Formats: sequence, structure tokens, C-alpha cells
Amino acid sequence: MNLDGQIAIVTGGAQGIGKAIVQVLIQSGADVVVADMNLDRARETVSELESASGGSGRRLMAVGVNVAESKQVTEMVDRVVKEWGKLDILVNNAGITRDGLLLRMSEEDWNRVMDVNLKGTFHCTKAVLPFMIRQRRGRIVNIASIVGAMGNAGQANYAASKAAVIGFTKSAAREYASRGITVNAVAPGFIDTALTQNLSQEVRDLLLKQIPLARLGTAMDVAYAVRFLISEEAGYITGQVIHVNGGMLMI
Ligand code: NAI
Repeated sequence: MNLDGQIAIVTGGAQGIGKAIVQVLIQSGADVVVADMNLDRARETVSELESASGGSGRRLMAVGVNVAESKQVTEMVDRVVKEWGKLDILVNNAGITRDGLLLRMSEEDWNRVMDVNLKGTFHCTKAVLPFMIRQRRGRIVNIASIVGAMGNAGQANYAASKAAVIGFTKSAAREYASRGITVNAVAPGFIDTALTQNLSQEVRDLLLKQIPLARLGTAMDVAYAVRFLISEEAGYITGQVIHVNGGMLMI
């Protein structure tokens, strides 16, 4: 899948699933902005991937941004277009959890998760659309979650935010299809990253029993699905959700 010369922004690209997406896009020929709240880690990721790609000529840029803040997002997008001339791909991957049973969930934990996972996706999408509309071409992929489709005890805020990301994806897909822009979502199941590393062995064992492919997913499993949706070959796919969950949920 050739993405030569395309410019991509991956939010939350400094680690985990976002980093794998950055890696796969670079391998496919894109120039990638690693947009993350953790600028130090974004810079480390950029240097690591630059040395690994060994002078491939692909460009990487680390940008510190909190996607929950619209001003920071528009400044980041303007900077990318100013420095690299255009923008073809946005992957809304930045996401957080603040788990707890509903009865004990604070309003702050509710708001924080909504602000990053849902409002962050809104801010970034809104900021890139004018450039993509002008080009009459664009690819947007939002990272949702299996939990947005099936719910999860202890994650009411997170599940609500990810279900909302799916509704947002379908609405944006309908609004901008006529401008040559596709908007899709990838909904990972349980993936082995920092986000899931604090699960107890007991919870892991319980999860594995529910996954037909009998393992947690890898960040690369998710990144390959994202790359497919971004590719030229996926041009007739919009408003869809690809589930990458080892068969844990089949819909
Ligand atoms: P992670 O915690 O390893 O990485 C998230 C990255 O996002 C970090 O680099 C962090 O600094 C950045 N980030 C957090 N808040 C931010 C903000 N406000 N602005 C900019 N950057 C911010 O998480 P992971 O596992 O790689 O998750 C990535 C996405 O995949 C998230 O949207 C998550 O909800 C989703 N997901 C993850 C699953 C898993 O099992 N790991 C399952 C389903 C979905």
C-alpha cells in the first residue's frame, strides 16, 4: 500500500497503538507528524523511528499538543500545513481511561475522558477538514474501542466516549463524502499496551477465555487495519467500523 508523498497526523503517536500506526505509515512512504501531549516521548519516538528507517527520506515531526484544547489543535494543524505544504491523513488515536464504577465515578473523570477521546476527535477533525476539502481528498481514521460497542463494567465514561466516536465517524462520513474525504473507525479489542498493562493476571485469564484467537492483540494488528482504510484501495469504504478484536465480538 503506497502512501508516497502523503502527509499524515497521528495523535497520541508517541507510544502504543499510535506509535505502531506512525511506524506503518512511514514504512508505506508517508511523512508523519507525531502529535502527542507528551512532547519528550514524541521526540524519542521520532529519533527512534528515524534511526530505524535508516535514511529512507521520509520526514517525521514531533509536536506537543493536547487534543482537548482547540487552540492547540488549530495551531498544530496550521504549523504542519505551513511547514509541509498540505495534509492528507488524520488518525485520531489519542485516548485515555479513568475507570471506576458508575456510582463512584467523579464528574471530573467523566469530563476528562470525554474531553480527550470525543472532543479531541472533534477538534482535530474540524481543524483538518478545510485543508482536505480544498484538496478534494482526505482520509480520517478514528480509533474507537470494542468497549464502545459492547460496554464494560467500570468504564461507563470510556465506553460512552468511544460509542460517541462511532456516531461522530458516521456523521462526518456522510457530510464529507461528496468532497472526496472518507471517515472510518477502527475498534480495537484488548491490545497489549500501557493502557492494558495494569490488568491483573486474573482479568487477563478471564479475557483470554472470551477471545477465539486466544491472545491479546498487538499494536501492529491495529495499525495494519488503519493503513488499509487509508490506502487508495479503500476508496469506496466510508462510515465503517473495522473491529480488530481476535473474534471477541462479532457484529
Ligand atoms: P497509550 O496510553 O499507550 O497511548 C496513548 C497516547 O496518547 C500517549 O502517548 C499519550 O501521551 C497520548 N495522549 C493522551 N492524552 C492526550 C491528549 N489529551 N492529547 C494528545 N495526546 C494524548 O494508549 P494505547 O493503548 O496506545 O491507545 C491508543 C488508542 O487506542 C486510544 O484511543 C485507546 O482508547 C484505544 N484503544 C486501546 C485499546 C487497548 O487495549 N490498548 C483497546 C481499544 C481502544
